[in-house]
Amino acid sequence: MKKVGVVGVGYVGLTQAIGMAQLGHSVIAYDIDQAKIEKLNKGNSPFFEPGLEEALVDAQSKNLISFSSDADNFINAEYIFLCLPTPQDEDGSADLTYLLEAVSNIRNVLKPNSYLIIKSTVPVNAWKQVEQIVKRDDVFVISNPEFLREGSALFDFHNPDRIVIGATNKELGQIVAELYENIPSTILLTDNTSAELIKYAANSFLAMKLSFVNDIAALSDNLNASSSDVLKGVGLDKRIGNKFLTPGPGWGGSCFPKDVRALVNIADKEKIMMPLLSAALKSNASAQDRVVDKVLKYFNQKTDAKVAILGLAFKANTDDFRNSPAVKIANNLKEKGFEVRCYDPQIKKHATLATFESIHEVVNEADMLLILTEWDDFRQLDPKEISRNMQGRVILDTRHVLNRPTWELHKFRFL
Ligand code: UGA
Repeated sequence: MKKVGVVGVGYVGLTQAIGMAQLGHSVIAYDIDQAKIEKLNKGNSPFFEPGLEEALVDAQSKNLISFSSDADNFINAEYIFLCLPTPQDEDGSADLTYLLEAVSNIRNVLKPNSYLIIKSTVPVNAWKQVEQIVKRDDVFVISNPEFLREGSALFDFHNPDRIVIGATNKELGQIVAELYENIPSTILLTDNTSAELIKYAANSFLAMKLSFVNDIAALSDNLNASSSDVLKGVGLDKRIGNKFLTPGPGWGGSCFPKDVRALVNIADKEKIMMPLLSAALKSNASAQDRVVDKVLKYFNQKTDAKVAILGLAFKANTDDFRNSPAVKIANNLKEKGFEVRCYDPQIKKHATLATFESIHEVVNEADMLLILTEWDDFRQLDPKEISRNMQGRVILDTRHVLNRPTWELHKFRFL
């Protein structure tokens, strides 16, 4: 059992803290947000993430985890994970203010020979800035990027494809690797800079892949080809792989858009041309526009219809709608004059959009059903029941969640 500290209890930090406790380590997690700490100490997660709250309560009952807004509690921690947000600056680069502030807040309480481990996604060479602020020869700065997906964060923690640990020498990396010894996974020991770049390269590659997938799906639709067969056929090539091939209304969330732009910024500074990244961003904006254009085309550019939207989260199994294509599309349709009614199983309030409590209410007298997030609940919809409430019989299912032949039997038409 090692003594672990976690700074910042957002998605990444809370998952890291609970995951470490589940591995049997003793964890103290810190955040400046006192309200969040109080909530966590009562066993409540500040956000929805499958299985996380149950795991939190379990770790608390075993006294393996505690939360505090007092940095002095890190005095005994041997391994401290930095899990602070690194939001996007105006020029697309990552803003390190929160991370560096946190480091300067805790630097004096760090135990000699402790490991300060950067989990947050940070620009290449940020570890050097962290070292400069720590200014201590007896604290080792390690880069250990996270690869968790929201919606399956805890599962991903325990089942990673790889664990990347960057350190100034392999021995230090090896010691940090021991924290994860109960996780069966490939461990890649490397230097700090490479570890930081791996994270950006992986997220950007995935975003580029999805942009290509969305463009191929649009082209298939135009050519009356089956996009699902085309993508299945492509994915059966093992060199390409069959994962991350599902088209949608564009990719979003708190990571891909920010990380692709940050990598553009890093490459620009190095004067390395990376046109694929800019193209991926452009393609992603087009994917969202294509959805709006299809709606406009169907209604002959008349914008007084009622559109029922299913899904606001940027993907299923999360209540996160940061950079959600669904929200962008819904707002865009609303601005054009449509009556936009939204339903999401986990998002019951939104600043600019009208949300409804049930699918039954949201589809009431709607002229079109627009599916933007792939929640499992939507797969179970009953066409008979929907047709009783809806006025129109047209569906735009951007996530391919409905079984078309069944719905077509009930006279629904798919755009
Ligand atoms: C992403 C990466 O997948 C994680 O490995 C990484 O750790 C994380 O960013 C991060 O940097 O913190 P996440 O943003 O939670 O994870 O979500 P993904 O599951 O990757 O989905 C991103 C977007 O792609 C969503 O809008 C999703 O709907 C879309 N997507 C994903 C598709 O449209 N089709 C797919 O087949 C897969």
